[in-house]
Amino acid sequence: MAQKDLTTSSGAPIADDNNSVTAGKRGPLTFDNFQLFEKLAHFNRERIPERVIHARGTGAYGYFKLEKDLSDYTIANFLQADKLGKETKVFVRFSTVGGGQDSNDYARDPRGFSIKFYTEEGNYDLVGNNTPVFFLRDPQKFPDFVHSQKKHPQTNLPNPAAEFEFWANHPASLHQITILMSDRGIPLSYRHMHGFSSHTLSLWNNKGERFWIKWHLRTDQGIKTLTNEEAAKMPVNGNQADLVNSIANGDFPSWTVQLQIMTEKEANEYHINPFDLTKVWEYKDFPVINIGKLVLNKNVDNYFAETEQAAFSPSNIVPGLSTSPDKILQARLLAYPDAQRHRLGANYNQLKVNSPECPVNNNQRDGNMAGMCPFNKGDNPQSSGVNFYPNDQVNKGAPSPNPKYLEPPMDLGHAIADRYDTMEDDNFTQAGKLFGIMSDDQKEQLTSNIAGCLIFAEKSVQERMLAQFEAADPDYRKRVESKLK
Ligand code: HEM
Repeated sequence: MAQKDLTTSSGAPIADDNNSVTAGKRGPLTFDNFQLFEKLAHFNRERIPERVIHARGTGAYGYFKLEKDLSDYTIANFLQADKLGKETKVFVRFSTVGGGQDSNDYARDPRGFSIKFYTEEGNYDLVGNNTPVFFLRDPQKFPDFVHSQKKHPQTNLPNPAAEFEFWANHPASLHQITILMSDRGIPLSYRHMHGFSSHTLSLWNNKGERFWIKWHLRTDQGIKTLTNEEAAKMPVNGNQADLVNSIANGDFPSWTVQLQIMTEKEANEYHINPFDLTKVWEYKDFPVINIGKLVLNKNVDNYFAETEQAAFSPSNIVPGLSTSPDKILQARLLAYPDAQRHRLGANYNQLKVNSPECPVNNNQRDGNMAGMCPFNKGDNPQSSGVNFYPNDQVNKGAPSPNPKYLEPPMDLGHAIADRYDTMEDDNFTQAGKLFGIMSDDQKEQLTSNIAGCLIFAEKSVQERMLAQFEAADPDYRKRVESKLK
């Protein structure tokens, strides 16, 4: 292969990259060291803010293959009969939640499971976790919750006492705690865990009907998990290595993609609030339907450019798929693009990993790094054409809105805006049911894991937590209490 010249970032060949220019052998530097100055200046700017949560992650490309025609439920282009057996490209990022970029892959922590579907009508993002529920049902508490799970502000050390102090005051978390502290709490690898939208989302069709849905991704590799003791022996980067190596070796991980579907009428009659993120829809009430396969088959070319700069958001939706009244979801619609403008800049959707594989035509102009998207298949999104709407140039190729993509109206009844206290909603029934179906060994692992952390909390925190376990199942309390003693 012909030798390639090392160059400056403006493309000029570099003759010597070992020695700076100095006045005499013993220095000092001269001011024409622009190659050195560029090298140092760029180095100073190599870091961008890490994600405030889910900072540690691993990404890969693959595809979603449709196996069921969903045209009765949705106009979404990639879910129609003519796409049966066809592949929609995806980028997936797995993550831990609480730790920073340099934390450990094997924390007892939920795992993020984000999928970007590059559809012909824009990017659809499913930004879920490996658990079907979440700790909260009101977004007002999210920053408080995350603070309580992060390191102590003074010592910068893990702070299990604060975690339980938060949970003692928020019984809505009990269902998720029961999953997190169970034998499922530390997946062996990203390949060996399920994924969930957790939220209720929606589909809508061309008859103006809306359906509430939950996404499920069942691992085809089988669930495999680690105990605390096993996790402590794993190498810190083990999960990243596992995913990268299995894809590099042609052992492509896959998931069976499923939906639970509920009509609006069924939602009105269901015995729980179907938009409460701390609750599941029981399978016996809403069985899962297989709709396709998710397969990961390509590693990234550059970790920073692709995985680190990937910007997923629940607000990235496409016609035929939409959100729901879940208030946590609503807050997320604002939080993610806001975080990404801060983390990556105003034009983050022009980065290759975020850029859709369909034309982008809008009237957004300028901003940091505008025009950096050579990958967009349509016009340059920052073209020099008309940049306002309405205009008189629609017949000359200027983009205009298309009413065929109008989402059906949502009936919210006679809703009254207020601050509704949901703290005392049923926090215990589903947590108790989950405890009830665990084997004796699983109950032992769950309650030992809880007691191992709760022991560091104040007595009053322990008492409030014991009262929560009791409300879920008296045996749950009994087992934790005996271990605390
Ligand atoms: C009010 C509730 C929530 C807020 C305000 C929130 C906020 C955020 C923010 C700001 C980020 C960083 C985004 C970035 O810098 O690119 C993030 C990442 C993430 N969140 Fe949330 N979050 C919430 C709840 C949830 C829930 C319920 C789930 C799962 C069901 C979830 C899953 C994720 C995942 C998977 C990521 C990582 C995305 C990636 O791989 O880049 N979050 N969240």
